[in-house]
Amino acid sequence: MLSNVFLFSLFVLTGNVGAQADANTTFLTATAIVTKNNNSAFECWQLTEPFRRSAVPGVSGTQVVTLSNNSNLAYVILPPRFDGGIHNAPAPQLVHFLSGAAHLTLPHDSSMDAWVLGGVGGLLFAVDTAGTGHITRYPTDQETVTITAPFEGGKIPEHTILANGPCMGKQTFF
Ligand SMILES: *[C@@H]1O[C@H](CO)[C@@H](O)[C@H](O)[C@H]1NC(C)=O
Ligand SMILES: *[C@@H]1O[C@H](CO)[C@@H](O)[C@H](O)[C@H]1NC(C)=O
Ligand SMILES: *[C@@H]1O[C@H](CO)[C@@H](O)[C@H](O)[C@H]1NC(C)=O
Repeated sequence: MLSNVFLFSLFVLTGNVGAQADANTTFLTATAIVTKNNNSAFECWQLTEPFRRSAVPGVSGTQVVTLSNNSNLAYVILPPRFDGGIHNAPAPQLVHFLSGAAHLTLPHDSSMDAWVLGGVGGLLFAVDTAGTGHITRYPTDQETVTITAPFEGGKIPEHTILANGPCMGKQTFF
């Protein structure tokens, strides 16, 4: 088991974290797909752990938040216009969309949907392991590439819920 464990950290490499930018006031936010009363639902999560100044050689002084220990991290390439169908998260996991775009809908609630665009804002917490599930479609003409990282032992990072819906606007941090 241990040989399969990856530590998922998010580094923000930035040249202008001067005195005005207190790392303690920056938090990672991302859309989550969760199970509520047996239904899949969207939430906007803000991690409890703030970004801190890294002391790790090579990224020393940059902002970092350590999210989780992870197992069986995978790199996934989805072809253009792939339809993932109705499914539940196979395990509570972090999914980071690197390219392309995903459109998530709920089979029981057509009023709610979420778009996740590949790139720095492409982080999603997929933890709806039970219940009605969600539909994921990849409607663009390019490949969608993701990293999926199940949380070791199913341990979901501590967070607060900012909204009962997907995060709006700038997704990665305030
Ligand atoms: C969720 O589903 C389980 C199993 O079908 C059922 O026992 C339970 O009452 C349901 N909970 C809610 C809140 O609907
Ligand atoms: C965050 O705040 C704590 C307590 O105020 C302080 O000890 C720490 O140095 C701060 N960290 C950063 C990265 O500014
Ligand atoms: C990851 O595992 C190590 C070793 O068990 C532990 O010290 C650390 O707190 C864990 N990190 C997180 C974010 O859970």
